[in-house]
Amino acid sequence: MIDDLLDPPRVGTETITQLPSIMSPSTVPVSKTYSIASIPADGIGPEVVNASIDVLRSLSETLGTFELEFKHYDWSTATYKKTGKYIPDGGLEELKKHDAIFFGAVGAPDVPDHISLWGLRLAICQPFQQYANVRPTKIFRGTQSPLRNCKTGQLDWVIVRENSEGEYAGQGGRSHRGHPWETATEVAIFSRHAVERIMRFAFETADKRPRKLLTVVTKSNAQRNGMVLWDEVAAEVAKDFPQVTQDKMLVDAMTCRMVLNPESLDTIVATNLHADILSDLAAALAGSIGIAPTSNLDPTRTFPSMFEPIHGSAFDITGKGISNPVATLWSSAEMLAWLGEQDASDKLLSSVERVCEAGVVTADLGGTARTVDVANAVIEDIRKSYGTKSK
Ligand code: NAI
Ligand code: MG
Repeated sequence: MIDDLLDPPRVGTETITQLPSIMSPSTVPVSKTYSIASIPADGIGPEVVNASIDVLRSLSETLGTFELEFKHYDWSTATYKKTGKYIPDGGLEELKKHDAIFFGAVGAPDVPDHISLWGLRLAICQPFQQYANVRPTKIFRGTQSPLRNCKTGQLDWVIVRENSEGEYAGQGGRSHRGHPWETATEVAIFSRHAVERIMRFAFETADKRPRKLLTVVTKSNAQRNGMVLWDEVAAEVAKDFPQVTQDKMLVDAMTCRMVLNPESLDTIVATNLHADILSDLAAALAGSIGIAPTSNLDPTRTFPSMFEPIHGSAFDITGKGISNPVATLWSSAEMLAWLGEQDASDKLLSSVERVCEAGVVTADLGGTARTVDVANAVIEDIRKSYGTKSK
């Protein structure tokens, strides 16, 4: 059990093993070991990452089917202020050796957000071509949507966000600095290659879900170049997925549909900027940004993929021990599924949902539990629900 989530940061390498010592070699189940880079970084990042690692340890011990070896990296704004760099020289090469990256949040009140985000999170996502950003949202049993009458099951979406270019390609510049005529450009980039790969990924995602329904979000009425290419490529890729029902929504109208008719949606694909905004709306509609996970995937598996909560550093609640760990726990489940541990992933998410249903929720969901209470309740549920079966 976790006594205090405000422990000093974890350092070095830690192996989460699970084999009960009473097992003889012949009864030891085959178990795989995965190497995970943990980067808790700033604000509430370390609180939610630590809580989730403790839960993962308990899951690994209880199920006995996998092991996780965490290497902790202290890449954060504190490191940046000491060394001038978020990621040290050779850092990305080091990261490449891991099977996955488990990330908290980056951002601090005394460093501009574009320096911190581009210094750490985007400095990993973009070189590693984690081009598919996947953001599931649903109303957990036991949690309340602010949408009157919207129940568990009526809001169950996966947002697929283009994660490598678009409005966040980093193209542009500033001229005439400091003059009244100072000019800045932020150029959105849409390449056929990147649009096609994200569309294909989105159709595949929709195809794997029971409703086989994909909504392509666009703004091609006003943006007549990049967004028109986006629509054209979507229509081309759709031909390869006749079993998926597809429709198209302008992003502004999409916000209304998400609020007014949530059950009409299932899988959604949108650009980097559009999906960034829509997924915060999705999280709030499901109850809180504190429950929403995100996966930055390289579907080619050339590079490790990165798993994190959607939320940021949350300066207003840092250090108070009240941050909701559910988003990071759900991200942990997504990470296990990506690593091939679907059964462990399903079990973890079921435990989290049972804990919510039992009313052990943090203040953002209207409860009184602290971070540590939620994590401990999930650990207890894992032991109770799966403990005897694995031994
Ligand atoms: P934020 O997500 O940190 O906070 C927004 C609001 O949601 C705050 O009131 C916060 O208390 C609440 N909140 C967030 N996570 C919560 C949790 N787990 N439990 C309970 N309440 C939670 O967004 P904000 O304030 O816009 O950004 C703060 C910093 O985080 C900025 O520096 C920003 O650049 C950075 N950021 C980093 C991200 C990342 O690393 N992926 C993503 C979003 C923001
Ligand atoms: Mg965002």
